[in-house]
Amino acid sequence: MKVTIDGITVDVEPGTSILNAARQIGGDIVPPAMCYYSKLAGSGGKCRTCLVKVTKGSEKDPRPMPKLVASCRTGVMDGMEVQNITSPEVVEARKGVVEMLLINHPLDCPVCDQAGECHLQDLGFEHGAAKTRYEFDRRTFEKIDIGDKIQLHMTRCILCYRCVFTADQITNTRLHGILNRGDHSEISTYISKAVDNDFSGNVIDVCPVGALTDKTFRFKNRVWFTKPVEAHRDCDKCCGKVTLWYKGEDVIRVTGRKDVYGEVEEFICNTCRFDKKKTADWVIEGPRKVSHQSVISANHYEFTPLPVVKTNPVLQAANKDQFERETRL
Ligand code: SF4
Ligand code: FES
Repeated sequence: MKVTIDGITVDVEPGTSILNAARQIGGDIVPPAMCYYSKLAGSGGKCRTCLVKVTKGSEKDPRPMPKLVASCRTGVMDGMEVQNITSPEVVEARKGVVEMLLINHPLDCPVCDQAGECHLQDLGFEHGAAKTRYEFDRRTFEKIDIGDKIQLHMTRCILCYRCVFTADQITNTRLHGILNRGDHSEISTYISKAVDNDFSGNVIDVCPVGALTDKTFRFKNRVWFTKPVEAHRDCDKCCGKVTLWYKGEDVIRVTGRKDVYGEVEEFICNTCRFDKKKTADWVIEGPRKVSHQSVISANHYEFTPLPVVKTNPVLQAANKDQFERETRL
């Protein structure tokens, strides 16, 4: 079936979501997604950053949808027409969503391990307002150690549920989840239990912010001073394909390999992540290509996003802010 997003038409399989249809076009018209994760069944629908406007429902029923919809949870219909960056209403609503996500989020970036690879930083930079209107006290929490390798900073959490889905779907025990409801919601372990199984470290990789951090890497370095290198090893628990993060000669962190949307390509086990921190443990493949957005690759970008906006005068006229951002890259 055919769907048109910001004037660009693409053919997709029935059942594809609007977000994934946009990802098939690629480049800079793809809506941001803070909670959807293509490797986790049922994810999405929580953060509302991927809102879009459906201006034509389908060929059979061309009525527009009355409200903005979450593109990660809305399936395409044949002949559907969607606006993302070309709709001022979407751009304004997204700004509101970012303001909402930042209501309780502390300005921890100068000390947060996730700084430089944080999706909320990117989102705030690209879609946020310069000021907050929130005047009330922010929620505060003590840091929680969930096991000896993972630390939870609940103040930074945006309640995307990715870590809960990860623990549910790729580990054999889930000992943490979201307690309470509404603005009392929080990630917690059941009576402060340690999360401890072979794949628990993946919750660190899926967390879009710095709420779940790797205790073996805490405060070791800013990510933009590290050198990411792809490597693999024979592992009987996982694929063994990882990114090693070097500081000089030392491996200071091991993570899964992330794609252009910040999602891990394959989940890795805790042995690879936490216990193999010597170069001799790995077969080195070469330098890691890092997304254009990341400060890690500043001044030596190895690839840039598809220049959808840069080459399309209609999109340039429709969203000057986006065009300016793209031309800066
Ligand atoms: S801890 Fe991270 S992954 Fe888990 S819900 Fe919060 S933001 Fe999402
Ligand atoms: S990515 Fe769609 S609602 Fe979060």
